[in-house]
Amino acid sequence: MKRDFPEDFVWGTATASYQIEGAVFADGRGESIWDRFCRMPGRVHGGHRGDIACDHYRRYAEDVAIMKELGVDSYRFSIAWPRIFPAGRGKPNPKGLDFYQRLLDELEKAGIKPMATLYHWDLPQVLQEEFGGWVSRDVAKYFRDYAVYVLERIGERLHWVVTINEPWVAAMLGYGYGVHAPGIRDFKAALTAGHHLLYGHGLVVQAFREMGLPGEIGITLNLTPYYPHSDAEEDIAVARRMDGFNNRWYLDPVFKGQYPQDVVEWFEERKILPSFPGEDLAVIAQPTDFLGINYYSRGIVGHSEEDPFGVKQYPPEFPVTDMDWEIYPQGLYDLLTRLHQDYGPIPLYITENGAAFPDKVEDGRVHDKDRIAYLEAHIQKAAEAIAHGVPLRGYYVWSLLDNFEWAFGYSKRFGIVYVDYQSLERIIKDSGLWYRDFLHAR
Ligand code: FCB
Repeated sequence: MKRDFPEDFVWGTATASYQIEGAVFADGRGESIWDRFCRMPGRVHGGHRGDIACDHYRRYAEDVAIMKELGVDSYRFSIAWPRIFPAGRGKPNPKGLDFYQRLLDELEKAGIKPMATLYHWDLPQVLQEEFGGWVSRDVAKYFRDYAVYVLERIGERLHWVVTINEPWVAAMLGYGYGVHAPGIRDFKAALTAGHHLLYGHGLVVQAFREMGLPGEIGITLNLTPYYPHSDAEEDIAVARRMDGFNNRWYLDPVFKGQYPQDVVEWFEERKILPSFPGEDLAVIAQPTDFLGINYYSRGIVGHSEEDPFGVKQYPPEFPVTDMDWEIYPQGLYDLLTRLHQDYGPIPLYITENGAAFPDKVEDGRVHDKDRIAYLEAHIQKAAEAIAHGVPLRGYYVWSLLDNFEWAFGYSKRFGIVYVDYQSLERIIKDSGLWYRDFLHAR
């Protein structure tokens, strides 16, 4: 299977700051919306919080050593905005950036190329309180200022920069459904937040170009292919609409400089379409060097009279992971080929793909054969997409470590490395050993 990938294909693992770092009070870090959300009763499974997480802030050298042993080419991590600007803006906290310098030193020694995400959901709490978070246009500008500060200091060291991770999730789960921080339930606010996330992305791409940095910049979207439950016209229409809400609403502005008209009309009819300056779209559509894709599963949908969005979700046809997400590797192939067809020759990276399973340690080992099967099947589909002409350049397993899975707390394990949350000991799972062997076969 390895032979099916080009020599310079990038193999990696991914994480995010709030999910692994812990040390939330260390070295002047400010509070984030996730610190706050975790402390609201009933919001996060078991009242779990990121205070300690995997203690990666202190154990990063051990974690880089594990990656070196696995033989990955690249590591995707995120930078915690509240470490850099504890109040979101104003006075920077140099100690916060020092941590990422240490991490980059360690990666460099190990020969692992960094891909840094600038926003993976840990917004400084002050910006939420004073401005309403991403609902405010000012926050997009503070995001640019934060990014410029970081890029001026470590930009030269980054091979790839991801501006925003999954604007759909940050906006819709955070401000629409309220199941993620900051926990707001208002769809118009969510669409406004989504627009500002994209606008912030565009501002940072602009700044990155002005700085003439050597690396590449892009955005990471969570993309889910939707399949109609039947051939009925109304089911097909719902699948198209879901594709519009979740995928095209982000892809089209970034790559075509416009929001999809069918979805605009749908939001307009329901009076939840926010207004914003038309020039924003030109900022959002700044050419990027790549598109990052997070793929986990698909959706099967049909028409419903009852649901306010007119959507019925159908049960999976294949086995599911511990998240109840259907295992559907074909969806990755369909997605990659469709992106290539509809959005042209933009280079693609799978910035996340992986699965949660209820792992158990037996005699010091974790025999997670379901995860191996998941990864193998998806990598196989990635190879098929390349054979079909898709410019796929890299693949990152989510995740290096078991970690804080947002509203699910520590109850879902995605790692190819097991973390014992009592002792903080790491155990490379069988899937990690499989990945190592797969990579060493090169
Ligand atoms: C994605 C997130 C990532 C992780 C995986 C399971 O939506 O980007 O942080 O939680 O899902």
